[in-house]
Amino acid sequence: MSKCLVTGAAGFIGSHLVDALIARGHTVVGVDNLKLGRRDNNAKALATGQFKFYEADVNDLAAMRRALEAEGGDGAYEMAWHLAANSDIRAGVTNPDVDLRDTFMTTFNLLKVMKDFSIKRIAFASTSAIYGEHPARLSEDIGPLFPISNYGAMKLASEAIISTALQTILTRAWIFRFPNVVGSRSTHGAIYDFVQKLKRNKAELEVLGDGTQEKPYFHVADLVEAMLYIVDTAAEHLAFYNIGTSDSLTTVRYMADAVVKRVSPGAKINYTGGSRGWIGDVPRFQYSVEKLKRLGWSPRLTSNEAVDRSVNEVATEQGL
Ligand SMILES: NC(=O)c1ccc[n+]([C@@H]2O[C@H](COP(=O)([O-])OP(=O)(O)OC[C@H]3O[C@@H](n4cnc5c(N)ncnc54)[C@H](O)[C@@H]3O)[C@@H](O)[C@H]2O)c1
Repeated sequence: MSKCLVTGAAGFIGSHLVDALIARGHTVVGVDNLKLGRRDNNAKALATGQFKFYEADVNDLAAMRRALEAEGGDGAYEMAWHLAANSDIRAGVTNPDVDLRDTFMTTFNLLKVMKDFSIKRIAFASTSAIYGEHPARLSEDIGPLFPISNYGAMKLASEAIISTALQTILTRAWIFRFPNVVGSRSTHGAIYDFVQKLKRNKAELEVLGDGTQEKPYFHVADLVEAMLYIVDTAAEHLAFYNIGTSDSLTTVRYMADAVVKRVSPGAKINYTGGSRGWIGDVPRFQYSVEKLKRLGWSPRLTSNEAVDRSVNEVATEQGL
């Protein structure tokens, strides 16, 4: 079975992807600088013997080359799954260097390493944040694209450089635009934050904004299945797909209520007010996943179902 490289392998989504690739019989070489990821997330994968982990920064070309050389060298890798990025959008608003380095330069530098090791296929974790704030339902052909966060801008730039690399070093690229992803092993996000806050103070939960922010949430199990389906099925040279739910949305208020009910019933929820959680946050959007449906894949869970399941998973992981 073939060997894949996964960047961001110790992160939330990356670790689930690693497990799914291993279950399909692949050997996986995972790289993560553990800035946000956790070693624990790869415990199951390490136990299989089909996974090798390297603590390295994707921007450290020498470390990346050493790791890839040690695991087979030039020609040994079928493809790269690029998930390493700054996933803390708020951190990138305060300090744009974070997104330049971890969200864009990781893509730019990974492509250099891929060239050296003749890895000609890339699957890339992009985001709904590339679309910016659009009143219309977000479909893949909507434009012009003007992101409102450094994170969204650097993901859009990453898509652009991958497109360009198809002219020279790559033969195939799959770009997935995720909405908000939820589930076990989360390293960030509203559910994770709410659970952490209630762990610290059982009596009160502070929620940014007025709770009316409303978006599609998507379970990580569905997400990984969709990513694999797209790579198996899409015929395009440059395949770009929204992954998510189209018809269901969840409000922040629903999420806060669900976390309080599960973790600390009776806790008082204090909304900080304002229609936007923080600068760079797109408070409301609806997704189109018609393109993915036409390819033959539909999600199982609605947005609220994904949230309910994740609240329980995250709380249980936190020993609650
Ligand atoms: N979770 C979501 O809702 C969501 C939505 C849209 C897109 N995405 C994208 O999906 C991917 C995975 O996100 P996630 O939610 O699992 O976040 P995550 O933070 O859990 O995973 C990202 C991983 O990349 C690692 N990393 C960051 N910079 C690195 C670097 N320079 N070198 C090596 N490793 C580095 C982090 O330590 C982390 O483990 C990211 O590219 C993210 O932008 C996530």
